[in-house]
Amino acid sequence: MPRIALIPGDGIGQEVVREGRRVLEAVAAADGLTLELDEWDLGAERYLREGVSITDEEFERLSSDYDAVLLGALGDPRVPGNEHARDILLGMRFRLDLYVNFRPCELLDPAHSPLKSVDGPLRLEIFRENTEGAYTGMGGRFRQGTPDEVAIEEDVNTRKGVERIVRAAFEHARIHRRPRVTLVDKANAMRHAGGLWRDVFAEVGEEFPGIEQDAMYVDAMAMDLVRRPARYHVLVASNLFGDIISDLAAELTGGLGLAPSGNLHPGRFALFEPVHGSAPDIAGQGKANPLGTIRCVALLLDHLGAPDSAERVRAAVRASLEEGVTTEDLGGSADTATVGVWIAERAAGQR
Ligand code: NAD
Ligand code: IPM
Ligand code: MN
Repeated sequence: MPRIALIPGDGIGQEVVREGRRVLEAVAAADGLTLELDEWDLGAERYLREGVSITDEEFERLSSDYDAVLLGALGDPRVPGNEHARDILLGMRFRLDLYVNFRPCELLDPAHSPLKSVDGPLRLEIFRENTEGAYTGMGGRFRQGTPDEVAIEEDVNTRKGVERIVRAAFEHARIHRRPRVTLVDKANAMRHAGGLWRDVFAEVGEEFPGIEQDAMYVDAMAMDLVRRPARYHVLVASNLFGDIISDLAAELTGGLGLAPSGNLHPGRFALFEPVHGSAPDIAGQGKANPLGTIRCVALLLDHLGAPDSAERVRAAVRASLEEGVTTEDLGGSADTATVGVWIAERAAGQR
């Protein structure tokens, strides 16, 4: 029986994972899937209470005892610097070696886009490198607090690390018949890292002759994603650039509230989480859009080998949008739980 760890975390993470769980349980019951769902108390509350973010033993248990994780968000204004969030979220990505951060953004309804017009059907699938780049914490602060202070944040790019994320992007394009893979970098200014990415992209690309390949500087990419987003399909980028363009791509396709993601080590482990954070500005008010998390449930069901169940969840999400059962960010008036209940019932064939 598949075992799933649920980590609601902080702020709206609690609210959206509650709805994700509801949908998962409903579709599992309807489709005869038996799942074990265990809720984990990780986040700011525990950190403030016990001074512990996550232990080595818990990392070990998560990776050995579970098939996947569904996480809400981490980040709390009461924890200065959000040390606990770095330990838990980046800890899982790095220590479980979840090197693919897959962030698919799809415009389900043109009315959701903030653009005046969109140049065609829009599906942007971002492959963000998730275990190195500017996120390793290598570097340091020297002469801290003095006028001569120096802060260094290294950008770490290994051939192995770049190669595996680039290959994951191309393989996805091949399997899902996507016409083009675009590398997003800043090779004009950051020529060492950029050079490595471009070399590896060209080398791996040779294995995928049927797929168009191009490269864009990240600043021009930000511009072109607004100008003609439908030109793009699969994007591959470093950790930091992938973080930035994924928020942009999310906004172009309906906002952060709709965007799911998977942190994956293919064949080994998967952690699904909405792209958004803990949104302290709306936490506890029932305003959070649960669709990012519910779309994570669909990714999770695919991961568990239940594509039909995943499709029922996706169909129920589309139906909720068509029927206007949406939260405020999408122009509706439903609260978080109303959307979750509606989708759970729809996915289970009860409405
Ligand atoms: P955020 O994503 O939490 O919020 C940005 C804006 O989008 C806010 O106005 C928020 O209200 C809105 N928003 C986000 N999710 C929404 C949803 N589901 N429905 C409706 N509106 C939504 O980003 P932030 O404000 O920069 O960060 C808040 C905290 O979350 C910080 O501590 C940050 O580090 C953390 N964070 C965590 C993750 C994660 O756990 N993966 C991701 C991003 C940010
Ligand atoms: C995300 C978040 C995280 C990141 C933060 C909270 C460290 O923005 O998941 O996109 O930058 O990866
Ligand atoms: Mn982000």
